[in-house]
Amino acid sequence: KGLKRILAAALCVTVIAGMSGCASSVTGGKRIIRISHAQSETHPEHLGLLKFKEYVEENLGDKYEVQIFPNELLGSAQKAIELTQTGAIDFVVAGTANLETFADVYEVFSMPYLFTSEDAYHEVMNDTDYMNQVYASTDEAGFRVLTWYNAGTRNFYATKPIHTPDDLKGLKIRVQQSPASVNMAKAFGAAASPMSFGEVYTAIQQGVIDGAENNELALTNNKHGEVAKYFSYNKHQMVPDMLIGNLKFLNSLSDEEREVFEEAARLSTEVELEEWDVQVEEAKKIAQDDMGVEFIDVDIQQFKDKVAGVQDEMLKENPDIQDLYDRIQEINAKYTDKEAE
Ligand code: GCU
Repeated sequence: KGLKRILAAALCVTVIAGMSGCASSVTGGKRIIRISHAQSETHPEHLGLLKFKEYVEENLGDKYEVQIFPNELLGSAQKAIELTQTGAIDFVVAGTANLETFADVYEVFSMPYLFTSEDAYHEVMNDTDYMNQVYASTDEAGFRVLTWYNAGTRNFYATKPIHTPDDLKGLKIRVQQSPASVNMAKAFGAAASPMSFGEVYTAIQQGVIDGAENNELALTNNKHGEVAKYFSYNKHQMVPDMLIGNLKFLNSLSDEEREVFEEAARLSTEVELEEWDVQVEEAKKIAQDDMGVEFIDVDIQQFKDKVAGVQDEMLKENPDIQDLYDRIQEINAKYTDKEAE
């Protein structure tokens, strides 16, 4: 923690000294591109970003050098988004929950049980033409999403076993820092405790919270499985992570350069998605066999019933999500029909 702060401070001193922001720093004639993310260096997102770096440098290496800062080194997702907004850094990877305050269309991904299958989720996210309209929604805030990364399916995990929604009663569960995430946890009957991702391990360890909700990699890559031994497959959300870029920087690129960055982003997603599937399987084994985490299969319908009213409430309160919501339902239906055939 302390080290992170010092590093962040040191970076920002360089920023101020550089006058126009760290992002504009030029070393050896090259413009340094800084990317921040919250995961470790073995995480699928980091591997995807290495592909991004490789492709950009292969094609524009005389001009740009890409530097990747993992582990919230430049600050938590929210802080890093602010740095990207101002142009202090150029890119950040963050979950859509963190974008809700900038563009409320992103609230849609916080709806419990929004996607009815992984296939539907992937099809929606891979429809670049449609998603680009959504991605433009943060232009006013000074940044734009370039591509998405799979962050799996979110589930509750805690220091106590959760078999039914009743077991969540009174449990303090960490959620992401967004109103929709807080409401979701409340709808499940838990006490919601919003905090940044990097704080979760210590909070569970010290008993400040009883658990959290996330994908399997949180157990292994972020070591939460050391402090929370029960992971319940209630599968309440599929929330994508987004690669976000400073809009001024993106707009400053020539058409050819922009094309290279877009293709680098697309390739990074390809790598990330492949790695994701492999690593989730590995994470389950490691968590179970080496960390002693118990995976609990629950009756998902009970959890669905518990939050049945939430989607309609959210649609009523936020008309901006309707179009994307309808689209997702269409694609959901396609796969449900397929299963029924
Ligand atoms: C996942 C996701 C992150 C997110 C984190 C969280 O790890 O990939 O983007 O920040 O969950 O719950 O905060």
